[in-house]
This record gives sequence, structure tokens and C-alpha cells, in this order.
Amino acid sequence: MTDELDRRTVLKTTAVLGTSTTLAGCRGLSRGDGTVTDTTGATRAADSEEYRPVYHFTPPSGWLNDPNGMVYHDGAYHLFYQYNPDDTDWGSVHWGHATSEDLFNWKNQGSKLEPEDDVLQFSGGAVVDSENTSGFGRDSLVLTYTGHHRDTRIEDQRLAYSTDGGKSVTKYADNPVIPSNSPDFRDPNVFRYEPDDSWRLVVSRVSATNDRPAGIEIYRSEDLHDWTYESTYEKRAIHDATEWECPDLYELPVKGGDTKWVLTVSADGGRVDHLVGEFDGTDFSLDRRVVADKGHDYYAAMSWANEPQDRRIALGWMNNWRYAEEIPDPGWRGTMTVPRRVTLVEDGDTVDVRQSPAGELTTLRGTKLTSLDSERLHSGDEPLANEGVSGRCLDIEMAIAPGNADTVGLDVRKGEEQQTTISYHTDTEMLLFDRSKSGTYFDTASSGATSADLQPMDDGTISLRVLVDRSSVEVFANDGRLAMSNLIYPDWQSDGISLFTENGDAEIVSLDVWELSLTQ
Ligand code: FRU
Repeated sequence: MTDELDRRTVLKTTAVLGTSTTLAGCRGLSRGDGTVTDTTGATRAADSEEYRPVYHFTPPSGWLNDPNGMVYHDGAYHLFYQYNPDDTDWGSVHWGHATSEDLFNWKNQGSKLEPEDDVLQFSGGAVVDSENTSGFGRDSLVLTYTGHHRDTRIEDQRLAYSTDGGKSVTKYADNPVIPSNSPDFRDPNVFRYEPDDSWRLVVSRVSATNDRPAGIEIYRSEDLHDWTYESTYEKRAIHDATEWECPDLYELPVKGGDTKWVLTVSADGGRVDHLVGEFDGTDFSLDRRVVADKGHDYYAAMSWANEPQDRRIALGWMNNWRYAEEIPDPGWRGTMTVPRRVTLVEDGDTVDVRQSPAGELTTLRGTKLTSLDSERLHSGDEPLANEGVSGRCLDIEMAIAPGNADTVGLDVRKGEEQQTTISYHTDTEMLLFDRSKSGTYFDTASSGATSADLQPMDDGTISLRVLVDRSSVEVFANDGRLAMSNLIYPDWQSDGISLFTENGDAEIVSLDVWELSLTQ
């Protein structure tokens, strides 16, 4: 076991379990040797493509974790990512690189920031330096990342740049630009602060030092080289977080010219918080916290800088450090979520966050498999199963009026003994996602189910957008009020879809199911 893998294992299990138990002690059913054990107890080869999503980004082979350096430049969205090409576990991380014109069809651009003998290249961001403030060149891409020293675990902040649109990336000769002599200080992310036309950098002080509390530190610079410390937004403001990583700070419109700032932090290896508040160029202050995704698998989320339509589009690593190295290992591991648009809306006295899949997703819609309109659903009815509607890469849009039913829901990736169930429970007003019968099981620390409060919309309906892509299901409910992302590993043959109600009748107000595929 390498030093860094050791560090990763210790770091993550300590944070998540609050103990020094190692991940090896938390056994999953994926063996890490190219085999998986299915729900019947049989062991079989994990086929590298049966789990590979079609319209989600995955590494060609090896390991992927956080998205990095997300920036739009000269006609292309750039997605860099934490990448270990040599192993399907976390290890000697590089920055992998891919580009896309539409956020879904990605071209692999190889690996850009190679690890050094003593320093790994941890997560960070990227900006377009259109005014050449850095002296690297007009419109250069400037990447910010953490240098993680293998021996001492000290982490400092560094620059790299590209003057050919990301084809080649050069590490800055005078790194680090924010030196440090302490560990656990990482993930620098830069943005332009328009009111005074200068740069800001947010970075996580994961653990406190003698003179700095744990939290998100904010720095200011005119030229991306010289950084002045401005403030810390302290982690103790959020009581249930022990470790923050991967900060992202941006301003979004609310209504009538008003704006709010959103500080996104990834907490404890398995959750993303949207901290909605104010930022005055120096200090961030919190109005409220909104958990970004109520599933198990949304982490290290980042958003694209310089987005051409002025949208805030974020994407996360669809995984959870609790078991990231335990999921089936068919020669690659790690998937990004679909890019999702983040907006703010006024909701009563508060400002709320909405998230929905980037609009470009609809261009991937192919055959419409079925469409229902005002259909009454009685206990025992299975309209979709009877029609033979099935698929592994689907976009399902539905509105349900739960009526007098206790439960109304949808099974996807359904087989003889498998199903992934998304259900609405009227008595508790909760949406449940149950993956305990989804297939190969790896999440031994939870029941497999995730849940969230969800009140019907003003017209009494529940709206669901369900994105199925071979080994994942993402649910967006009630026009983006709720997101829930979960990995699943069903058998290839389990491809059915079925609607159901329990103890009463419900109405399927509308339902449309499309097959999704890439266009290029
Ligand atoms: C988050 C993270 C980052 C770090 C990277 C290392 O998942 O721990 O804080 O930079 O992964 O791969």
C-alpha cells in the first residue's frame, strides 16, 4: 500500500466514521480483482462496459475522483479531474483532462498535471485570464491546484497555465504562490470579483493550525501570483461538518436585481452543502445552509467558470469516500454526475436553491418509449411493465397526484430479483430512494436507502425527473427543489421499469420516457 493511499484511507475513515477504523474493515462485496458478488452470492467477472454510463463522464481506465479546473474557453467546456491512470484505487493523482462543446459528449485530452516524485497534484480550479493580469498571456488558462507533499503531507497552493487552449499545460516556475508549512490546506479555486476588478481565491483549511481556524480561507490578488489573506469563514458555523474540502464561491441573481452568494463546500467525504449568504469582497456571511443532494453520491462539486450563457453549471463526483474504493472494479472507477444548473429563487422569506440537469441533456433524447396522460393507477397495476417499457439509459419525466394512496412510486433497472425503487410516501411527505435490491452491493454501512422531505407542489402534484444511466440514478424532484443521486450495480438483464401504488389509487398526471444516447 502506497504512502498516499494509506493517508487517504486514514483521512477518510477518520472523518466519516469518527474512528480510526480502516476501510478494509468495512467490507463490501466488490473484490477489487475484477470480480463482483451478486445478490444471489455468486461471484462473476465484472464486465468493464456493463456498468459504464453512456452520457456521464468516466475515465478511460483507472481511477477518477473530484472534478477540477472547470472552465469554458474558446468554444469548449474543459473538465479536468483527479485521475490515477495506473490503478483503480486512489493513489498517485494526476489531472486528467477532457473537453466538450455540449457538456455531454466528451473528448479525452489525456493527462495534464503529472505528479512529481515528492508532490501530488490535488484539486483546484481554473480561470481565463482575459486581461493578462498574470503575464502568462492574454486569454491564457490559469489553473490553481494544491501541491500535496507525500512525505510531510504539507499542502501548498500552486499555479499552472496554458496558452494554447489547454493542449499543453505548464507548471509555474515559482510555485508555490501560497506557501504553507502545514498539512490539510487544499483545493484553491479562483474567481474574478467584479466590484473591484481583482481576483479572489477560496481554499479549505481542513484542520486548524496554531494561528488559523479550520474553515474556508479567502485571499485576494491583482495578478494571480501575489495573494493577500482576507478572512476565514469558519467551519464551526456548521455543526455537523468535521472536514470541508473543495470550496466554490459564486454570485447568483435572486429577483429584481438582488443577488446572493453561494459558498459550496464538500463535507466529510460524502455530502455537498450550499451555503447561501453574502460576500462583500472580504468576508462571507451565512443566511442558510441547504444540503445540495440527499443521495449518497454527490461530492466535490465544482462549477464552470466563464460559462458563455452566464449560467452556473455544477457537476460532482458521483461517489462517496465511505466506499469509493469498494465499488465494483471493472478496470475503471469513478463517474461524474450530470452537469446541473444551479439557480436561486425566493421562497417565502428565504432564498432557496434549485438544481436541474443542464438543458443540453434534452438533445440526447432519442426514441420516446412511452407517454401517459391522466392515467389512474390502482394497487397492482403495472402499466409500463405490461407495455414492455425498459432501458438502461433513460430520461423519465413524470407528475404524480398521490390521491389516496399511501405510497406511489417507480421501479427502474427491474429484474427478477432486482429493482431500484423511488417512492413517494404521503403520510410522511417523504421521497425515498431504495437501492438495497439494486444489484451488487457495496454500501454495507447504510440500509441502502436515502430519503428527504418533499411537500407536494401548489397543485398537489409531485414532479420527478429520473435519469438512469447503467450504474447510476439521479432524481430531481419538484422542479429542482430536491436532488438525489445514487450509484447502483444491477445485472445487465435487469432493465425493466414499473409504476406502482400501495393502499389506494393515484393519478399519473403525465409521464414521458425517452432513451438517451450520445450524439457524437
Ligand atoms: C476531495 C479530496 C480533495 C483533494 C483530492 C485528492 O475528494 O480529498 O480535498 O484535493 O480529493 O484527490
